[in-house]
Amino acid sequence: MMHNNAKNYEIYAVLQDKKQLVVHWSDGYKSTFHYIWLRDNCYCSACGDPRLGKKRFRLIDVPADVQPQSVHCENGNALEITWEPDEHRSVYDAQWLRMHCYSATKREPRQPILWDSHIVNHLPQTTYEEIRNGDAGRLLMLEHVRDYGICFVRNVPPQTGKLESVAESLGPIMESHYGRVFDIVVTPDENQKSVANSRYNLIPHTDDPYQDIPPGIIFFHCLKANDDGSGQSLFVDGFQIAEVLRREKPSAFDLLCHYEVSFHKQYDEQIDIQASSPVISLDPRGNLRGVRISNLFAAPFELPEELVEPFYAAYKKLMQLYTAPKYLLKVALRPGDMVIFDNHRILHGRTEIGMQQQRHLRWCSMQRDYLHRSLQILARRLGY
Ligand SMILES: [Fe+2]
Ligand SMILES: [Zn+2]
Repeated sequence: MMHNNAKNYEIYAVLQDKKQLVVHWSDGYKSTFHYIWLRDNCYCSACGDPRLGKKRFRLIDVPADVQPQSVHCENGNALEITWEPDEHRSVYDAQWLRMHCYSATKREPRQPILWDSHIVNHLPQTTYEEIRNGDAGRLLMLEHVRDYGICFVRNVPPQTGKLESVAESLGPIMESHYGRVFDIVVTPDENQKSVANSRYNLIPHTDDPYQDIPPGIIFFHCLKANDDGSGQSLFVDGFQIAEVLRREKPSAFDLLCHYEVSFHKQYDEQIDIQASSPVISLDPRGNLRGVRISNLFAAPFELPEELVEPFYAAYKKLMQLYTAPKYLLKVALRPGDMVIFDNHRILHGRTEIGMQQQRHLRWCSMQRDYLHRSLQILARRLGY
């Protein structure tokens, strides 16, 4: 169901309209391609290849109402157009055309699979074995992160270095003010750089919201766990709670989408960072793009006076949602467990850590681009 691209699409008929070409496919589907779009996307050797980020064609070199002189479709596998006025020739592969069809019914972006506390019964997970055994295992792990925002990997040997080797199989680890890898252990110092090194419980949050672009993908690897049931990990699907808010209190949802809040972090003389963002970000179609939620690092709101009260009400409503047991996944990570999640979607937190406990997690992060890159490469290698 998810690997449509493997299908072989055939062009059945082509109709020339004034400004566009209507392509009828052998599976009954119909696509419209505007001439200007087709000309703009020619990938002949003269025009360069936009598929590879090597486009040389420039829109300013052709008339806005560019017209074909002739259109041919020999065998259903390719479309050939010769253009006015310079007889430039373009050939479009049928699979390429179908993949880039922009007709209304085809334009359905992949939807995230929203989840709540019930996910505990069917966790998106895999094993270290599985991901080491080959591309299919790694693809499944990445598809879980793409669709659920999170994937658990079991049986990763609880040794220093394993976190890095799994992460680096996808892309470069991001350097942050915590270094490349950060150890989450309780330390006795008074002035910890991160509250993660205290015993406190941590309310679900997304990490590093005070950065212009917070880390995209976060990795946790558990080396040691507590034996008193304390320090359990919490996860919440930020997209789920945002959609619940959109349904139940649309005016609150709108406020959180349209006004920015600031997040900041100060530490000694070394760190002083601040960034602003809406709590909920949408794409131009109104689909969720990301959430940035952190009680820890919230700076004082600077809002229009008349919005202070409704904004606080909206913010509180959201907090009620992301702390509600109904939406909370609570798991006790065991040594060897790894969690990979999308920090622009999934909130994480933990319960308080008991006295004299040994819990040790290692943390690192990566830009989101590498998730997408690895998905593409693996899918192509596997022929999807
Ligand atoms: Fe965190
Ligand atoms: Zn060309």
